[in-house]
Amino acid sequence: MSIDRTTKIAPSILSADFANFGLEIQAIEAEGADWVHVDVMDNHFVPNLTFGPPAVAAFRKHVKTVMDVHLMIAPVDPSIDAYAQAGADILTAHVEAGPHIHRTLQAIRAAGMKAGVALNPGTPADSVAHVLNIADLVCVMTVNPGFGGQKFINMTEKVRKLRDMIGDRPVHIEIDGGVDPDTAPELVAAGADVLVAGSAVFRGGSVDNPAAYGANMRAIRNSIR
Ligand code: DX5
Ligand code: ZN
Repeated sequence: MSIDRTTKIAPSILSADFANFGLEIQAIEAEGADWVHVDVMDNHFVPNLTFGPPAVAAFRKHVKTVMDVHLMIAPVDPSIDAYAQAGADILTAHVEAGPHIHRTLQAIRAAGMKAGVALNPGTPADSVAHVLNIADLVCVMTVNPGFGGQKFINMTEKVRKLRDMIGDRPVHIEIDGGVDPDTAPELVAAGADVLVAGSAVFRGGSVDNPAAYGANMRAIRNSIR
């Protein structure tokens, strides 16, 4: 089985207008987003609080591409079915969120979703060595999770190592945090194929000025050519 390894841009709606999620999702998709990245934070695993399953279910009605749900919550397992019901296509859990990442990834797949595993900047690539056969995506955090607009932390070595470890397996490498036209090229060269970007996509735009979103995404795409 092979997967699409072309570069995909996944705007994070953490940087959208929280009073306007439906229109924001429509705008980024109309402007060329490949996936929509949804950051769920619990004020426990990370020091910030966003939204839960009912809001994610409401987003689903507007997402025509791929709804990529990034859980920054602990524990994960009790919420897996709720995010399946909410319509997540990909559900990503942090390897640091509990002692049983293997069980968590199995449960995500059993609930009918693609399974992602995320690594904080301080967590080594080796921590996912034994789950690559049951994962569809590895998310390499290039900021400490919790907030948009933080300074990029260089994880190129980790991406390169993961790309080697993954080999021919159908596993995406996603980068999350501080992605912009300056940081993207090296990450893609190292093997990443999904670029999450919040501030670098939403800055300067709005639902009344969605063309800026398109220009921002094109700037990222052009940087990697
Ligand atoms: C951080 C989130 C990211 C964040 C990225 O905890 O997981 O998805 O929104 O935002 P930027 O691109 O602004 O760093
Ligand atoms: Zn994220």
